Amino acid sequence: MVQVPLGNRSYDIRIGPGLLSRIGEECAALGLNSRCAIISDSKVEPLYGRIVAKSLRKAGFAPVLITVPSGEKAKSLKNIHACYDRLAAHRLERKSFVLALGGGVVGDLAGFVAATYLRGIPFVQAPTTLLGQVDSSVGGKVGVNLKAGKNLVGAFHQPKLVLCDVDALRTLPRREFRSGLAEVIKYGIIYDGELFARLEQDMEALLRGEPQILAEVIARCCEIKAEVVAQDETESGLRAILNFGHSIGHALEAVAGYGKYLHGEAISIGQVKAADLSARVLGLAAGEVQRIQRLFEQAGLPTQLKASLPLRKKLVQAMKVDKKVSRGEVKFVLAQKIGQVQFGCTVPETMIQEVLSI
Ligand SMILES: NC(=O)c1ccc[n+]([C@@H]2O[C@H](COP(=O)([O-])OP(=O)(O)OC[C@H]3O[C@@H](n4cnc5c(N)ncnc54)[C@H](O)[C@@H]3O)[C@@H](O)[C@H]2O)c1
Ligand SMILES: [Zn+2]
Repeated sequence: MVQVPLGNRSYDIRIGPGLLSRIGEECAALGLNSRCAIISDSKVEPLYGRIVAKSLRKAGFAPVLITVPSGEKAKSLKNIHACYDRLAAHRLERKSFVLALGGGVVGDLAGFVAATYLRGIPFVQAPTTLLGQVDSSVGGKVGVNLKAGKNLVGAFHQPKLVLCDVDALRTLPRREFRSGLAEVIKYGIIYDGELFARLEQDMEALLRGEPQILAEVIARCCEIKAEVVAQDETESGLRAILNFGHSIGHALEAVAGYGKYLHGEAISIGQVKAADLSARVLGLAAGEVQRIQRLFEQAGLPTQLKASLPLRKKLVQAMKVDKKVSRGEVKFVLAQKIGQVQFGCTVPETMIQEVLSI
């Protein structure tokens, strides 16, 4: 178990096998109203909707099940509206709660519904993707997309509880699982050299889905994210380190067209490029750059880009319109060594162009 220390909004993250079938008991301990809503997507609901609803009912809850389409497009105001209508029809009250059952898409959408319905009702997360378990379910950021861009409407709303059932990862498509590993590796690079070394040792076991190793690694990632978020809840400083590899990664996602690269694939390339920049700007040792590249390769993630000149130009342009820009300068998170990074680093544009070309 990991505790997220945020004063009177502190909450627990429980990680292990079999949690979805015990979700009712876990929620009962929170002292909430019996009427509640499960928000899930069209791929996750057929797999886990029944077990979760059954467990809630057994614990005395009366859940309504709301299913949105699977995929990023579901994170829309239209679906938010549809969810509000269902909550109202089911007469959810102030002490009712919303349970997010699915990946980051469902977590962000359901969290925004919970943050805003009746000016905010309790929220429980049951993330079913690796990315959801190590990243999006921790930190309290919730929201949806607009046509103009991703995550443009949102709020901070902390969950009351997060339940990461590692068994749920068994049905996750391999490519999605590998993509989540890119965030896992990120935590090693930005915060914990020992975690990085452990991943080098245990990558095969993780790819095989060994429950014990998975649970331990996920717990460490949650702990790191929780520590960073607790120190900087509203993203004014330290939280920036979580964006290691993301300036280039986001640019790649935007330029390639959303959908070509999964997020984890784009930030895998982004982190390898950021490691290269780190060597040039902060003197990150060549051996460490190699270890970083090798670990992403071991996880089955892409690490090469070899962008042509026109693509390089588009990528730099896209980085400039990304959020992490102040006065037209792209700020990078760069590593001094594996386990330690600095944020707010400026890098000459010629140098960015150069690393993108290799
Ligand atoms: N709030 C935050 O702090 C934060 C952080 C990172 C990412 N995000 C958001 O998270 C979203 C991405 O999340 P994601 O990668 O989990 O994507 P996702 O929610 O779209 O899930 C990926 C795919 O896997 C399917 N799926 C989920 N769990 C499954 C399971 N156990 N078995 C089989 N299929 C399963 C889903 O239906 C979907 O098709 C993005 O919208 C991103 O903006 C938010
Ligand atoms: Zn990310």
